[in-house]
Amino acid sequence: MALLDIITAPDPRLKRKAETVATVDAATAKLMADMLETMYEAPGIGLAAPQVGVSKRIIVADAAREGEAPQPLKMVNPQIVWSSDEKKTHEEGCLSLPDEYEIVNRPDKIRVQYVDETNTPRELEADGLLAVVIQHELDHLDGVLFVDHISTLKRNMILRRLTKYKKFGKRPVAVGE
Ligand code: NI
Repeated sequence: MALLDIITAPDPRLKRKAETVATVDAATAKLMADMLETMYEAPGIGLAAPQVGVSKRIIVADAAREGEAPQPLKMVNPQIVWSSDEKKTHEEGCLSLPDEYEIVNRPDKIRVQYVDETNTPRELEADGLLAVVIQHELDHLDGVLFVDHISTLKRNMILRRLTKYKKFGKRPVAVGE
């Protein structure tokens, strides 16, 4: 297994629509294992392939709470086939938008169909945090970031901040350092 580099915004690779995976092979399984390792290391609770520079419809997630056993999820070609009318707000962050958090409103419950790492079709019903993570990661496959769900004003502020981080590094450097 290997740790992968996570792309941070703004980056055109995060705005692309990812390709459908034709068949889940050993390379796909290895990519998902590497993505999970990268996500745990970050640490994060979800990661989509475009965030590691692979424009394919693949996501991994683990919404287990602290102290709970890990619940790793690997999804290829995930599709939301039903979502509840009831919506809920959650504070979201993203490994591609370090240190930025905003409240996002999304359907509270979803049903998602996907193919697992053994190429078997599966269906999962999710609510709460897991539903949030899956919707957030699925957005990445369509080039959508969580900041695309908030006001333009807030989004531009965050993207300006991230552009500066990229240019100058995260830590403000004191004069003479
Ligand atoms: Ni994200």
